[in-house]
Amino acid sequence: MSTDKTNSAWGGRFSEATDAFVQRFTASVEFDQRMYAQDIQGSVAHATMLTKVGVLTEAERDEIIQGLGEIKTDIEAGNFEWSIALEDVHMNIEAALTKKIGITGKKLHTGRSRNDQVATDIRLYLRGEVDHLSGELTRLQQGLIELASKEADTIMPGFTHLQTAQPVTFGHHLLAWNEMLERDFARLQDCRKRINVLPLGAAALAGTTYPIDREYTAQLLGFDGATENSLDSVSDRDFAIEFTSAAALIMMHLSRFSEELVLWASAQFNFIDLPDRFCTGSSIMPQKKNPDVPELVRGKSGRIFGHLMSLLTLMKGQPLAYNKDNQEDKEPLFDTVDNLAGCLRAFADMMPHVVSKKEVMREAALRGFSTATDLADYLVRKGVPFRDSHEIVGSAVGYGVKSGKDLGEMELSELQQFGDMITQDVFSVLTLEGSVSARDHLGGTAPKQVTAAAKRATERLLKR
Ligand code: ARG
Repeated sequence: MSTDKTNSAWGGRFSEATDAFVQRFTASVEFDQRMYAQDIQGSVAHATMLTKVGVLTEAERDEIIQGLGEIKTDIEAGNFEWSIALEDVHMNIEAALTKKIGITGKKLHTGRSRNDQVATDIRLYLRGEVDHLSGELTRLQQGLIELASKEADTIMPGFTHLQTAQPVTFGHHLLAWNEMLERDFARLQDCRKRINVLPLGAAALAGTTYPIDREYTAQLLGFDGATENSLDSVSDRDFAIEFTSAAALIMMHLSRFSEELVLWASAQFNFIDLPDRFCTGSSIMPQKKNPDVPELVRGKSGRIFGHLMSLLTLMKGQPLAYNKDNQEDKEPLFDTVDNLAGCLRAFADMMPHVVSKKEVMREAALRGFSTATDLADYLVRKGVPFRDSHEIVGSAVGYGVKSGKDLGEMELSELQQFGDMITQDVFSVLTLEGSVSARDHLGGTAPKQVTAAAKRATERLLKR
């Protein structure tokens, strides 16, 4: 990256060159150059609009568009020298244009400012990223739903307080994750609406004296419309905060999934096998197979929560309109996008290959008195008030703890010590299959319901 003594964009007002350190300190080109394509796209639309309203000639427009196209090619081929002295992506590209096409290049900035330009670039950039992330989210959901269909009747213990509570199906558990992602997708789509509005035309803060046609620029760039107020346009970063907040929620969900995968893959749970290619070994302990992917995803949630806090804090003290503080929006935003994309990709790639250990899950559900509530419901059906049946089953469980037997393993005579209304038919409710199949309603864990829920979930995906 090169550094120059003066900056031609404002050299006229200044009698000495910027301090070399200050030049580096205030520059953003090292990170905002990633928006070069959006910057060029915005400039092409701006020049096209200026021509439509008679500010540029068609020949000037064509020269500008041609020059910008060549610059894009140069950047993508690695033949572009970014300069710190030119501070940011906007001035680097504008200077290169002028170098390429001469005086016409200097006309591109007519009727705009870097303030509305940068706001436009970020919105274009983020819109594209939201679409990419939405695609990754959908891919992950597809994998989850497919796995859930296959695991519709796999029985595992369901937990509350991480204590065995009641048997559930693994498919049902996986579809719980899918519901979280469904809301995440909706949040991304909702925030996209507020991203997809054109701020260009606000110029520095007050608008411009040229007869610009903002609706036309908006249309050229695929925005749903133009922003209402010039002061708000250059200073608003709500859309970036909303996006980061949606990203933080996604990461919170992925972190919860990760925690469960890590637990389940442990020797103590041993519920699942993660594919080797998503795990790593230990340099000292030969037996180790570590669930690094979910662990790292769980860890990365922290930095994204942090970025949300950074952006909120960045904005809280700013008076209208644009302030240089806003330059600090980019790194948290870019890092959020990059890490979220990585986490979603890893999960979408890995999820379809998670293998359940059905026998182990079943064994675990058999232990821990997971059908105790079923026994209580059975007694209620025999006329016992629920509070009394709760008490009776509590005693039976206490006996089971002492004698080392689960409820389904007791003899009828042993169960009858706790209530003589208990008869042979009790064993059908004490089985795991009986327990899950009985929860046969919308949102319940019965295999039949899981299959139907997976089908509805797929239909929702197909409507996207
Ligand atoms: N690099 C700047 C940013 O990211 C672009 C806008 C600069 N505007 C200004 N008036 N200094 O916010």
